[in-house]
Amino acid sequence: GDEDDLMPRPAVVTVMGHVDHGKTRLLDALRHSNVQAKEAGGITQTIGAYQVETEVDDEDRTITFIDTPGHEAFTAMRARGAKSTDIAVLVVAADDGAMPQTIEALNHATAADVPVVVAVNKVDKPTADPAKVRGQLTEYGLVPEEYGGDTMFVDVSATKGEGLDELLEAIVLTADAALELQANPEMDAQGVAIEAHLDKGRGPVATVLVQRGTLHVGDSIVAGPAHGRVRALINDVGESVEAAEPSMPVQVLGLTSVPGAGDAFMVVPDDRTARQIADQREARKRAAAQAAGAR
Ligand code: GTP
Ligand code: NA
Ligand code: MG
Repeated sequence: GDEDDLMPRPAVVTVMGHVDHGKTRLLDALRHSNVQAKEAGGITQTIGAYQVETEVDDEDRTITFIDTPGHEAFTAMRARGAKSTDIAVLVVAADDGAMPQTIEALNHATAADVPVVVAVNKVDKPTADPAKVRGQLTEYGLVPEEYGGDTMFVDVSATKGEGLDELLEAIVLTADAALELQANPEMDAQGVAIEAHLDKGRGPVATVLVQRGTLHVGDSIVAGPAHGRVRALINDVGESVEAAEPSMPVQVLGLTSVPGAGDAFMVVPDDRTARQIADQREARKRAAAQAAGAR
């Protein structure tokens, strides 16, 4: 059964925070070393989500980062009931301190019951005041471990590449302390679409996060109102792969239309079933639209 076959899976992390506090730069910095090590050809195809390898207590650990366009996407996904994030990294610029969107992001994470790790960024700046950030967030209930609380704060500089290993370690330790991250890799895959678009050459392309099971090339899938057979899977460094395991982000080619961000996907027995489910969803959507129009 499912319960018997649970295996550890990587933590899935979303980076949140106030505008210009360094979310994208931090993600780039975390990815940089990793991608360079993994990459053969040197050409990166960004898929908006990627995995980073790190070592904690002599153990190799993988972390999945979702590079969403901020907490709007996070909220949208939460609203659809697709909990895609295990941990939120809250980025706060040490020169600016907590700002309105910092608190908003914090509230989203709390409402979704997602543990938070705070990355106090831009500590290279002369006006940086990391202690002030700790004090501010304490007032909002995020008490640093060094003050006797249970939230890990890590000072980082995305531009100087400082504190990155410490941040990765804090994420792994927080995951181990707060969560039991397991999934059965043997079952048919289920997960969530993070982003999707229509590519001129390749047709509908969806970046999905596999949450349970393993997704294979050749699988018949339904993703929201879209369906199709997986023609190819592209990993976070642009390589074609045969399969994607739990917590792995991957681009899916072969859908007949474009699903929405936050849409759930699942593998079904065959193409006919996939089409039937997709048609039913489409019909329900039309009926709902007509009912709304008639009012
Ligand atoms: P939005 O996506 O627009 O909300 O911004 P963001 O949070 O992704 O910030 P972004 O990574 O775009 O960084 C904003 C600015 O801060 C850029 O000019 C970065 O170069 C700068 N920046 C980011 N991290 C650091 C840092 O550690 N130190 C310094 N000095 N500047 C940084
Ligand atoms: Na910015
Ligand atoms: Mg950004």
